[in-house]
Amino acid sequence: MIDWSLIQETAETILEKDPAARSMLEVYLCYPGFHAVTMYRVANVFYKQEQFTLARCISQFARMITGIEIHPGATIGRRFVIDHGMGVVIGETTVIGDDCFLYQGVTLGAGAEARQGEQTRGRKRHPTLKNEVIVGSGAEIQGDIVVGNNVRVASGSIVLKDVPDNSIVVGVPGRIIYKDGKRVDDKTPDPEAEAIKRLKQRIDSLEKSLNSLKEASPLSNQTAQADLGDENKGDNDDDSDPVDVFLQGAGI
Ligand SMILES: CC(C)(COP(=O)(O)OP(=O)(O)OC[C@H]1O[C@@H](n2cnc3c(N)ncnc32)[C@H](O)[C@@H]1OP(=O)(O)O)[C@@H](O)C(=O)NCCC(=O)NCCS
Repeated sequence: MIDWSLIQETAETILEKDPAARSMLEVYLCYPGFHAVTMYRVANVFYKQEQFTLARCISQFARMITGIEIHPGATIGRRFVIDHGMGVVIGETTVIGDDCFLYQGVTLGAGAEARQGEQTRGRKRHPTLKNEVIVGSGAEIQGDIVVGNNVRVASGSIVLKDVPDNSIVVGVPGRIIYKDGKRVDDKTPDPEAEAIKRLKQRIDSLEKSLNSLKEASPLSNQTAQADLGDENKGDNDDDSDPVDVFLQGAGI
């Protein structure tokens, strides 16, 4: 049987949490997250009755009209909200606790196991989100991992390992920067910036060696001795090196 109280609770939670929602009627008519979760509740009933194809058809219809794909086999707790929703994917063995909140573009997917095909059928391969978890837009949580109570996953993060309760996870790969309200990692992870920084250090050191070789060469002339570092700074009017500007944060 469909538990209509679960559906009503989700509508009430949207009205409570979304400042853009003006009335219950608006939530019923204009919230794709509400439509998708409602259709999931119906599909899940058929899934539990082992009417798998009918359940999948309902889920695919929901995906067509909302852009949100929730597998009917997923287990989802009370007051679950998906905001905006387009691009959300929730896999078959996902478990979501109570009061969880997802933004658009979130994937709760299988990890590398997904490639092993039917060998993994029936095995838990998607994440478990405990209670009061918030997942920011575009974040990916992959594999049979546990994301603890009251965890917040920042937009764009990729989470591949268990996350303890009361943490904030940020970056690719996801790192815990807050735990129990205290900052535990001062450096926001940015592997791309780190790689660019290392490459720049190597280029600077090669340029230095090249310049000293040219200076030592009897064939050298004024033009050849020009500082290669300056040559490569490009057409910037203000003489600032765009790589330095990027590494100081403007490009991140
Ligand atoms: C991750 C999140 C839940 C944390 O919320 P919060 O507890 O209020 O904390 P804050 O927003 O202050 O963020 C905590 C820290 O994470 C950092 N952070 C947040 N999001 C980040 C991101 N995507 N990438 C890198 N760092 C991020 C903040 O800069 C802050 O760092 P600081 O303490 O050094 O200033 C929140 O940032 C969030 O909800 N993000 C998703 C929002 C979203 O998807 N919006 C789409 C709306 S359409």
